[in-house]
Amino acid sequence: MELDIEPNFADTNPKAGVVGQPLTRVDGRAKVTGAAKYSAEYNNVPGLVHGVFKTSDVAKGRITGFDASAAQRAPGVLAILTHQNLPKLAITPDTPEGKKAIGMGVQMGFLPLTSDQIYYAAQPVALVVADTLERAQYAATLLKVQVATEVPTVSYQDPKAKLFDPTKLTVGKTENQPKRGDAQTAFASAPIQLTATYHHAITHHNPMEPGATIAHWEAPDRVTVYDTTQGITWTQKSLSAMLGLPVDQVRVVNKYLGGGFGCKGSTWPHTILTIQAAKAVGRPVKLALTRPQQFTSMGHREDQEQTLRLGATKEGKLLALLHEKTSTTSAWDNYAETNAKIVDLLYDCPHFEAQTQLARANVMTSTYMRAPGEAPGSFAIECAMDDLAYRVGLDPIQIRLLNYAEKDPSTGKPWSSKSLKECYARGAELFGWSKRNPKNGATRAGKTLVGWGMATASYPVHSGQGNARVRLYADGHAVVQAGATDLGTGTYTVITQVAADSLGITPDKIRFELGDSALPSTIVSGGSMAAGTVSSSVYLAAQDVWQKLTKVAVLDKKSPLYQAKPADVEVVKGRLQLKANPSKGEEFAALMQRASMGDVEGIATGRYGAGYESAQAALNASKTKKDDAGEHSMHSFGAHFCEVHVDPELGTVRVTRWVSVVAGGRILNPKTARSQIMGGSIFGIGAALMEGTNRDPNLARYTNASLADYHVCVNLDIPDMTVEFIDEHDPYINAMGVKGIGEISIVGTSAAVGNAIFHATGRRLRALPITPDKVL
Ligand code: MOS
Repeated sequence: MELDIEPNFADTNPKAGVVGQPLTRVDGRAKVTGAAKYSAEYNNVPGLVHGVFKTSDVAKGRITGFDASAAQRAPGVLAILTHQNLPKLAITPDTPEGKKAIGMGVQMGFLPLTSDQIYYAAQPVALVVADTLERAQYAATLLKVQVATEVPTVSYQDPKAKLFDPTKLTVGKTENQPKRGDAQTAFASAPIQLTATYHHAITHHNPMEPGATIAHWEAPDRVTVYDTTQGITWTQKSLSAMLGLPVDQVRVVNKYLGGGFGCKGSTWPHTILTIQAAKAVGRPVKLALTRPQQFTSMGHREDQEQTLRLGATKEGKLLALLHEKTSTTSAWDNYAETNAKIVDLLYDCPHFEAQTQLARANVMTSTYMRAPGEAPGSFAIECAMDDLAYRVGLDPIQIRLLNYAEKDPSTGKPWSSKSLKECYARGAELFGWSKRNPKNGATRAGKTLVGWGMATASYPVHSGQGNARVRLYADGHAVVQAGATDLGTGTYTVITQVAADSLGITPDKIRFELGDSALPSTIVSGGSMAAGTVSSSVYLAAQDVWQKLTKVAVLDKKSPLYQAKPADVEVVKGRLQLKANPSKGEEFAALMQRASMGDVEGIATGRYGAGYESAQAALNASKTKKDDAGEHSMHSFGAHFCEVHVDPELGTVRVTRWVSVVAGGRILNPKTARSQIMGGSIFGIGAALMEGTNRDPNLARYTNASLADYHVCVNLDIPDMTVEFIDEHDPYINAMGVKGIGEISIVGTSAAVGNAIFHATGRRLRALPITPDKVL
């Protein structure tokens, strides 16, 4: 019998229940009691020993030899691994074939301990394994490394740096920069021309939990890895390629993450090196990065400058945007955040052009960091729009409405949904924006200058798909599984809610399991994709359960639904019934018990719409029913409003009020969602006012790679924040209508702060972080 039950899409699916309710975290108790096990805490692995890195003090050079005699004699030492004796890998990411086989999961094309070259300060040059952590640390101090030192290149600003265009490379070419119309000509003839350059310091992800790996070879060809990864499937694939093992013989486990912000999206050297160390010593090995090593081992957001040229009419209507970005990359990779996309996308503008330049320097590869590209790109465009507003005498919201993009300017496609006008209006109302005196320095609280600024936020709905399994038991509970990860932001909780509503049972009857590559595979928890993809997969897997049970019911002589057409059956809160006559039907438990079914299992692949940024992913994804041609541009939108108090004598800036209003499709849980937006905005305020590392101009070493010297926002830096969501139903995005909100919160944030400082002081500060020395 053919079943023709179609999943309901976003406009009709779960009508009432726990989705959309502020459910308290289901993993909260495990976390506050210490029961939650993080990667470095699997200490009951039998025979576990400890690895530590010996790192390079110099940023460029060649290892000419080691004196390991004292280290080897130190108590408890099991191995000292260097490029001379590391067990050989099947492939490494430094070759085109290696890159291809390993895929997206490895960002860094150079693997330490596979060559005598030193490319960056704090690069691991040896991995010392001993029976205790302290003995490994001590032995590492005894190891002497001889290095032929060379003069390093520090950054793109170093006079030695050679700039190149990565879109013009023959090998390792990166994607072309967007271009529409003739921006050069349009800019040259524009009545208003604004040109400005924006700088962004190197910033670091700094999750509470630094990177850590425990590698356990359970057989000579089978390894289990407990790893701080945002994507167990990517990690599994990368590791299996490098190890030359079938994917299923590499198991990756991660049940809890203490944050990630993108730095745990890729597999970094410490993970594969720990696995090789475990192989070398024949024992499970744990390696946990120290906090200073966290600054130099899992990427960062690159130091960069952007020059934005903006041409407009006298009334403030955009005519041309030209964006140039120059940034530092490592000695071997071409990574750069793609800032131009957000500049191209936010406003209606007929002419656009972008260029990017890189310079190789002795620094490790930078990587995705929360809203990669959108965060710094929005700083440039959103400060420039503020300048334009002042130039033509319009309110900052008015200038944005004047240039409102009714369709995606970068592709010409209609938006799947866009509630940005509602975000502006609601944010302005919550903030009291209408009371703003636009004059710089006109608002004071005693000696303090008060400034109000705002900015637009947007983030793409990236393409992705993933699997989930739902097992519903006749006794009324369910186990739901997907190989996702929970960064700490609520995946466990929101997926429990979706499963509860999809199955018509209460959340306490659901156990949602994630974080193990043995579970159905799904996407990386990155790109704000996890909530949308995993919730849609789980929802569709529940539909699969109902299809199977409907089949059983219509064939069961004792069922009230016997001989009904499956298409005539609907499921409401766990009850199978006739659409035309709901009184005719039965609860799933009754049906299953009579049919002697202990359980029933559903599996599905979450469908996702087409994101603009990855044609390949869009091709591979099975799209939502309503967007088979990928004809919509899919983005979330929002607006931030910020009040600062600036002390004109000390140059200190305090954020005293904050409002964010976000339209991100269906909000699965307003409590965890609010925390996401607050966290991201705080992250953005940190980038605006205090975060950044400095590197010694001669030695190319970080001078402030610790949480004592690298300042992040603490409670006293942040006021009570107001966060609201616009109720938005998008039928094109995915089965649950969830756009994802992990990153939009940091887009536009530093511009809102910078615009508020400009309002307060009349000074346009374009180099982040805006520290007191710059304000004075
Ligand atoms: Mo994110 S930077 O996609 O984890």
